[in-house]
Amino acid sequence: MAVIEVVVGDITREAVDAIVTAANESLLGGGGVDGAVHRAAGPRLARAGGAIAPCEPGDAKATPAFDLDPPVRHVIHTVGPVWEGGGHGEADILASCYRRSLRVADGLGVRAIAFPAIATGVYGFPADQAARIAAVTLAATPTTVERIRLVAFDEDTAGHLHAALAFSC
Ligand code: APR
Repeated sequence: MAVIEVVVGDITREAVDAIVTAANESLLGGGGVDGAVHRAAGPRLARAGGAIAPCEPGDAKATPAFDLDPPVRHVIHTVGPVWEGGGHGEADILASCYRRSLRVADGLGVRAIAFPAIATGVYGFPADQAARIAAVTLAATPTTVERIRLVAFDEDTAGHLHAALAFSC
């Protein structure tokens, strides 16, 4: 079972084998964490993303990490749900993002992976509910990944993740 850690910071600075980005279906880049990942990885990331797009909400697809510093070798692009009040399958789609990302990571032999708080920015998913889904899903999904780092961009998100992990593990 993987060790799950919470840290506050910029995911592009993580020393892991793969980082997950909260993308949109085009995989061409966007704002928020996706913008930061594309800036750090360079323009080849959008070309590689475009070549394997579209990526449906709840799915995940991998590309090389290009100009990101080693040991990062892979970017796993996942598309969260747009929050529409919670009655449109948003929770299931978000859980699927975490499960599918781990599945893709397993296929690549990833040992350490970093996740952002998927869907909690532009897509508007409430941070406390999203943290619970992240913690419960990651704790329950069989994987060969050994270390999972949940990278919060702010202290509030980190607090929600700590609380959710204490509850779910
Ligand atoms: N490192 C870690 N987390 C970050 C970073 C970063 N460098 N930058 C932003 N975040 C955090 C946000 O604070 C938020 O908690 O990532 C979380 C997810 O927010 P978004 O990046 O807005 O992602 P999401 O809500 O899933 O929206 C996806 O935004 O621009 C795009 O292409 C993307 O259209 C897609 C949409």
